[in-house]
Amino acid sequence: MKATVFLGGGRITAALLAGLRLANYRSPIVVHDRNPHKLRALQKEFSVMVEPNLRSAVSQARLLIIAVRPGDVAAILTEISQAESQAKRARRGGPALIACSLAAGIPFAKLRARLGAPVRWSRAMPSPVARTGNGLTSVTFDRGFPKSARKLVRDFFARVGAVVEVPERKFDAFMVTFSPSHGYHALAALAQSAQKLGLDRYTAFAAASHALADGIISWRQGTESLEGLLHESATPGGIAAAVMNAMDQRGYSKTVARALKAGLARARKNANL
Ligand SMILES: NC(=O)c1ccc[n+]([C@@H]2O[C@H](COP(=O)([O-])OP(=O)(O)OC[C@H]3O[C@@H](n4cnc5c(N)ncnc54)[C@H](OP(=O)(O)O)[C@@H]3O)[C@@H](O)[C@H]2O)c1
Repeated sequence: MKATVFLGGGRITAALLAGLRLANYRSPIVVHDRNPHKLRALQKEFSVMVEPNLRSAVSQARLLIIAVRPGDVAAILTEISQAESQAKRARRGGPALIACSLAAGIPFAKLRARLGAPVRWSRAMPSPVARTGNGLTSVTFDRGFPKSARKLVRDFFARVGAVVEVPERKFDAFMVTFSPSHGYHALAALAQSAQKLGLDRYTAFAAASHALADGIISWRQGTESLEGLLHESATPGGIAAAVMNAMDQRGYSKTVARALKAGLARARKNANL
Protein backbone atom coordinates (compact mmCIF):
# COMPACT_ATOMS: atom_id res chain seq x y z
CA MET A 1 0.00 0.00 0.00
CA LYS A 2 1.38 3.41 -0.96
CA ALA A 3 0.15 6.36 1.07
CA THR A 4 0.53 10.08 1.48
CA VAL A 5 2.94 10.29 4.39
CA PHE A 6 3.29 13.38 6.59
CA LEU A 7 6.56 13.78 8.47
CA GLY A 8 5.52 16.06 11.32
CA GLY A 9 2.11 15.95 12.92
CA GLY A 10 1.80 19.56 14.07
CA ARG A 11 -0.40 22.53 13.21
CA ILE A 12 -0.37 22.49 9.43
CA THR A 13 -0.73 18.71 9.26
CA ALA A 14 -3.77 18.86 11.55
CA ALA A 15 -5.31 21.68 9.47
CA LEU A 16 -4.80 19.73 6.23
CA LEU A 17 -6.18 16.53 7.76
CA ALA A 18 -9.29 18.40 8.92
CA GLY A 19 -9.82 19.78 5.41
CA LEU A 20 -9.26 16.38 3.83
CA ARG A 21 -11.77 14.79 6.16
CA LEU A 22 -14.29 17.46 5.22
CA ALA A 23 -13.60 16.68 1.55
CA ASN A 24 -14.25 12.97 2.20
CA TYR A 25 -10.71 12.12 1.16
CA ARG A 26 -10.41 8.35 1.35
CA SER A 27 -6.87 7.52 0.19
CA PRO A 28 -4.46 6.22 2.81
CA ILE A 29 -2.64 8.77 4.97
CA VAL A 30 0.18 7.99 7.37
CA VAL A 31 1.57 10.48 9.89
CA HIS A 32 4.97 10.24 11.54
CA ASP A 33 5.94 12.49 14.45
CA ARG A 34 8.42 12.17 17.29
CA ASN A 35 5.69 12.83 19.87
CA PRO A 36 3.58 9.74 20.54
CA HIS A 37 0.82 11.83 22.15
CA LYS A 38 0.42 13.90 18.95
CA LEU A 39 0.18 10.72 16.88
CA ARG A 40 -2.46 9.29 19.22
CA ALA A 41 -4.47 12.53 19.02
CA LEU A 42 -4.32 12.64 15.19
CA GLN A 43 -5.25 8.98 14.92
CA LYS A 44 -8.22 9.52 17.21
CA GLU A 45 -9.43 12.72 15.57
CA PHE A 46 -8.85 11.92 11.89
CA SER A 47 -8.63 8.10 11.75
CA VAL A 48 -5.28 8.34 9.96
CA MET A 49 -2.62 5.68 10.25
CA VAL A 50 0.34 6.64 12.38
CA GLU A 51 3.90 5.38 12.20
CA PRO A 52 6.39 6.23 14.95
CA ASN A 53 9.28 4.72 12.96
CA LEU A 54 10.65 7.17 10.40
CA ARG A 55 12.13 4.61 8.06
CA SER A 56 8.96 2.58 7.99
CA ALA A 57 6.88 5.74 7.39
CA VAL A 58 9.06 6.78 4.43
CA SER A 59 8.89 3.30 2.92
CA GLN A 60 5.08 3.61 2.73
CA ALA A 61 5.16 6.90 0.83
CA ARG A 62 3.81 7.55 -2.61
CA LEU A 63 3.85 11.24 -1.69
CA LEU A 64 6.12 12.25 1.18
CA ILE A 65 5.19 15.56 2.82
CA ILE A 66 7.82 17.28 4.95
CA ALA A 67 5.85 19.11 7.62
CA VAL A 68 8.43 19.79 10.32
CA ARG A 69 9.58 23.32 11.22
CA PRO A 70 12.33 24.71 8.99
CA GLY A 71 14.96 24.32 11.74
CA ASP A 72 14.20 20.58 11.94
CA VAL A 73 14.35 19.88 8.20
CA ALA A 74 18.11 19.24 7.99
CA ALA A 75 18.01 16.61 10.73
CA ILE A 76 15.03 14.72 9.36
CA LEU A 77 16.39 14.73 5.78
CA THR A 78 19.73 13.41 7.00
CA GLU A 79 17.91 10.61 8.81
CA ILE A 80 15.89 9.78 5.69
CA SER A 81 18.99 9.94 3.53
CA GLN A 82 20.66 7.30 5.66
CA ALA A 83 17.59 5.07 5.50
CA GLU A 84 17.12 5.78 1.77
CA SER A 85 20.63 4.76 0.76
CA GLN A 86 19.75 1.27 1.98
CA ALA A 87 16.26 1.40 0.45
CA LYS A 88 17.73 2.60 -2.88
CA ARG A 89 19.93 -0.44 -3.05
CA ALA A 90 16.92 -2.61 -2.33
CA ARG A 91 14.80 -0.90 -5.01
CA ARG A 92 17.45 -1.08 -7.76
CA GLY A 93 16.26 1.69 -10.03
CA GLY A 94 12.63 1.66 -8.89
CA PRO A 95 10.41 4.75 -9.16
CA ALA A 96 11.54 8.07 -7.70
CA LEU A 97 10.26 9.04 -4.29
CA ILE A 98 7.97 12.05 -4.70
CA ALA A 99 8.53 14.56 -1.91
CA CYS A 100 6.85 17.84 -1.07
CA SER A 101 8.36 20.25 1.43
CA LEU A 102 6.10 22.66 3.29
CA ALA A 103 9.07 24.23 5.04
CA ALA A 104 9.02 28.00 4.69
CA GLY A 105 12.00 29.51 2.94
CA ILE A 106 14.04 26.36 2.26
CA PRO A 107 14.87 26.22 -1.46
CA PHE A 108 15.17 23.16 -3.69
CA ALA A 109 18.96 23.52 -3.83
CA LYS A 110 19.15 22.91 -0.08
CA LEU A 111 16.56 20.13 -0.06
CA ARG A 112 18.30 18.37 -2.96
CA ALA A 113 21.69 18.74 -1.30
CA ARG A 114 20.38 16.97 1.80
CA LEU A 115 18.31 14.37 0.00
CA GLY A 116 18.93 13.96 -3.71
CA ALA A 117 17.95 11.43 -6.40
CA PRO A 118 15.99 9.20 -6.48
CA VAL A 119 13.97 11.73 -4.47
CA ARG A 120 12.16 14.33 -6.62
CA TRP A 121 11.22 17.56 -4.91
CA SER A 122 8.24 19.84 -4.96
CA ARG A 123 7.38 22.59 -2.51
CA ALA A 124 3.96 23.65 -1.30
CA MET A 125 2.78 26.47 0.93
CA PRO A 126 -0.70 25.58 2.18
CA SER A 127 -2.83 27.87 4.26
CA PRO A 128 -4.22 26.58 7.55
CA VAL A 129 -7.62 27.78 6.31
CA ALA A 130 -7.49 24.42 4.50
CA ARG A 131 -9.14 23.26 7.72
CA THR A 132 -12.51 24.42 6.35
CA GLY A 133 -11.81 23.64 2.69
CA ASN A 134 -11.16 27.32 1.96
CA GLY A 135 -7.41 26.99 1.65
CA LEU A 136 -5.00 28.37 -0.90
CA THR A 137 -1.82 26.48 -1.67
CA SER A 138 1.08 27.62 -3.81
CA VAL A 139 3.10 24.82 -5.38
CA THR A 140 6.39 24.74 -7.26
CA PHE A 141 8.33 21.89 -8.81
CA ASP A 142 12.04 21.20 -9.00
CA ARG A 143 13.74 20.47 -12.31
CA GLY A 144 13.25 16.88 -13.39
CA PHE A 145 10.06 16.55 -11.35
CA PRO A 146 7.91 13.97 -13.20
CA LYS A 147 4.87 15.42 -15.04
CA SER A 148 2.52 12.74 -13.70
CA ALA A 149 3.61 13.54 -10.15
CA ARG A 150 2.79 17.23 -10.62
CA LYS A 151 -0.84 16.23 -10.90
CA LEU A 152 -0.53 14.08 -7.80
CA VAL A 153 0.71 17.05 -5.76
CA ARG A 154 -1.73 19.58 -7.23
CA ASP A 155 -4.71 17.25 -6.85
CA PHE A 156 -3.82 16.52 -3.25
CA PHE A 157 -3.87 20.17 -2.17
CA ALA A 158 -6.85 20.94 -4.42
CA ARG A 159 -8.96 18.84 -2.06
CA VAL A 160 -8.69 21.59 0.55
CA GLY A 161 -8.88 24.75 -1.56
CA ALA A 162 -7.45 26.54 -4.57
CA VAL A 163 -3.96 25.73 -5.87
CA VAL A 164 -1.67 28.14 -7.71
CA GLU A 165 1.68 27.39 -9.28
CA VAL A 166 4.31 30.00 -8.40
CA PRO A 167 7.93 29.90 -9.63
CA GLU A 168 10.38 29.20 -6.86
CA ARG A 169 11.99 32.66 -7.12
CA LYS A 170 8.61 34.19 -6.19
CA PHE A 171 7.61 31.59 -3.65
CA ASP A 172 8.64 33.56 -0.56
CA ALA A 173 6.91 36.72 -1.83
CA PHE A 174 3.70 34.73 -2.19
CA MET A 175 4.19 33.21 1.24
CA VAL A 176 4.56 36.50 3.11
CA THR A 177 1.52 37.90 1.30
CA PHE A 178 -1.02 35.08 1.46
CA SER A 179 -0.93 34.26 5.14
CA PRO A 180 -4.36 34.45 6.81
CA SER A 181 -2.47 35.90 9.76
CA HIS A 182 -2.79 39.27 7.97
CA GLY A 183 -6.55 39.09 8.28
CA TYR A 184 -6.52 37.83 11.88
CA HIS A 185 -4.01 40.49 12.86
CA ALA A 186 -6.06 43.27 11.23
CA LEU A 187 -9.24 41.88 12.79
CA ALA A 188 -7.71 41.95 16.27
CA ALA A 189 -6.40 45.52 15.80
CA LEU A 190 -9.67 46.85 14.36
CA ALA A 191 -11.86 45.17 17.00
CA GLN A 192 -9.56 46.37 19.78
CA SER A 193 -9.77 49.96 18.52
CA ALA A 194 -13.57 49.66 18.30
CA GLN A 195 -13.73 48.45 21.90
CA LYS A 196 -11.67 51.49 22.92
CA LEU A 197 -14.39 53.61 21.29
CA GLY A 198 -16.93 51.95 23.58
CA LEU A 199 -18.32 49.00 21.60
CA ASP A 200 -18.77 45.75 23.51
CA ARG A 201 -16.57 42.85 22.40
CA TYR A 202 -19.27 41.03 20.42
CA THR A 203 -20.37 44.11 18.48
CA ALA A 204 -16.77 45.21 17.94
CA PHE A 205 -15.91 41.85 16.32
CA ALA A 206 -19.14 41.79 14.29
CA ALA A 207 -18.31 45.23 12.91
CA ALA A 208 -14.61 44.54 12.35
CA SER A 209 -15.09 41.14 10.71
CA HIS A 210 -17.73 42.61 8.38
CA ALA A 211 -15.35 45.42 7.49
CA LEU A 212 -12.51 43.07 6.63
CA ALA A 213 -14.17 39.93 5.31
CA ASP A 214 -17.57 40.59 3.73
CA GLY A 215 -16.55 43.33 1.32
CA ILE A 216 -13.56 41.33 0.12
CA ILE A 217 -15.68 38.21 -0.41
CA SER A 218 -18.16 40.28 -2.44
CA TRP A 219 -15.30 41.77 -4.48
CA ARG A 220 -13.92 38.28 -5.16
CA GLN A 221 -17.31 36.92 -6.16
CA GLY A 222 -18.46 39.94 -8.15
CA THR A 223 -17.32 41.89 -11.18
CA GLU A 224 -16.79 45.35 -9.65
CA SER A 225 -13.28 46.77 -9.66
CA LEU A 226 -11.57 47.43 -6.36
CA GLU A 227 -11.36 51.13 -7.26
CA GLY A 228 -15.12 51.20 -7.90
CA LEU A 229 -15.88 49.53 -4.59
CA LEU A 230 -13.54 51.86 -2.71
CA HIS A 231 -15.31 54.81 -4.31
CA GLU A 232 -18.71 53.37 -3.38
CA SER A 233 -17.83 52.69 0.27
CA ALA A 234 -15.90 55.90 0.96
CA THR A 235 -17.72 59.04 -0.17
CA PRO A 236 -15.11 61.73 -0.91
CA GLY A 237 -14.94 64.00 2.13
CA GLY A 238 -16.92 61.49 4.21
CA ILE A 239 -16.15 59.45 7.30
CA ALA A 240 -14.61 56.35 5.71
CA ALA A 241 -12.43 58.57 3.53
CA ALA A 242 -11.25 60.45 6.63
CA VAL A 243 -10.32 57.15 8.30
CA MET A 244 -8.42 55.92 5.21
CA ASN A 245 -6.61 59.23 4.80
CA ALA A 246 -5.52 59.15 8.43
CA MET A 247 -4.16 55.61 7.92
CA ASP A 248 -2.34 56.61 4.74
CA GLN A 249 -0.83 59.69 6.36
CA ARG A 250 0.47 57.45 9.15
CA GLY A 251 2.26 55.32 6.54
CA TYR A 252 -0.16 52.39 6.24
CA SER A 253 1.13 51.24 2.84
CA LYS A 254 4.76 51.72 3.84
CA THR A 255 4.21 49.77 7.03
CA VAL A 256 2.68 46.88 5.09
CA ALA A 257 5.58 46.93 2.60
CA ARG A 258 8.14 46.98 5.44
CA ALA A 259 6.35 44.15 7.22
CA LEU A 260 6.46 41.93 4.12
CA LYS A 261 10.18 42.64 3.78
CA ALA A 262 10.68 41.54 7.38
CA GLY A 263 8.92 38.28 6.48
CA LEU A 264 11.17 37.81 3.46
CA ALA A 265 14.26 38.40 5.58
CA ARG A 266 13.05 35.76 8.04
CA ALA A 267 12.44 33.30 5.20
CA ARG A 268 15.99 33.88 3.94
CA LYS A 269 17.32 32.93 7.36
CA ASN A 270 15.43 29.62 7.06
CA ALA A 271 17.30 28.99 3.83
CA ASN A 272 20.55 28.59 5.81
CA LEU A 273 19.81 24.92 6.27
N1 LIG B 1 1.50 26.43 10.50
C1 LIG B 1 1.18 26.90 9.28
O1 LIG B 1 0.18 27.57 9.08
C2 LIG B 1 2.04 26.56 8.08
C3 LIG B 1 1.59 26.90 6.79
C4 LIG B 1 2.38 26.54 5.68
C5 LIG B 1 3.58 25.88 5.88
N2 LIG B 1 4.00 25.59 7.14
C6 LIG B 1 5.28 24.87 7.30
O2 LIG B 1 4.98 23.58 7.79
C7 LIG B 1 6.02 23.14 8.66
C8 LIG B 1 5.39 22.71 9.98
O3 LIG B 1 4.80 23.84 10.60
P1 LIG B 1 3.81 23.64 11.82
O4 LIG B 1 3.31 24.98 12.17
O5 LIG B 1 2.85 22.52 11.57
O6 LIG B 1 4.88 23.16 12.94
P2 LIG B 1 4.60 22.34 14.27
O7 LIG B 1 3.21 22.57 14.75
O8 LIG B 1 5.73 22.62 15.20
O9 LIG B 1 4.68 20.81 13.79
C9 LIG B 1 5.88 20.17 13.46
C10 LIG B 1 5.87 18.80 14.11
O10 LIG B 1 7.00 18.05 13.64
C11 LIG B 1 7.62 17.42 14.75
N3 LIG B 1 9.02 17.12 14.42
C12 LIG B 1 10.04 17.98 14.29
N4 LIG B 1 11.18 17.32 13.97
C13 LIG B 1 10.85 16.02 13.89
C14 LIG B 1 11.60 14.84 13.62
N5 LIG B 1 12.91 14.88 13.35
N6 LIG B 1 10.95 13.67 13.62
C15 LIG B 1 9.63 13.61 13.89
N7 LIG B 1 8.86 14.69 14.17
C16 LIG B 1 9.47 15.89 14.18
C17 LIG B 1 7.47 18.45 15.85
O11 LIG B 1 7.73 17.90 17.09
P3 LIG B 1 8.21 18.88 18.33
O12 LIG B 1 6.97 19.62 18.74
O13 LIG B 1 8.73 17.91 19.35
O14 LIG B 1 9.26 19.80 17.80
C18 LIG B 1 6.02 18.86 15.65
O15 LIG B 1 5.13 17.94 16.24
C19 LIG B 1 7.00 24.30 8.80
O16 LIG B 1 8.14 24.06 8.03
C20 LIG B 1 6.24 25.51 8.29
O17 LIG B 1 7.11 26.44 7.64
C21 LIG B 1 3.27 25.89 8.24
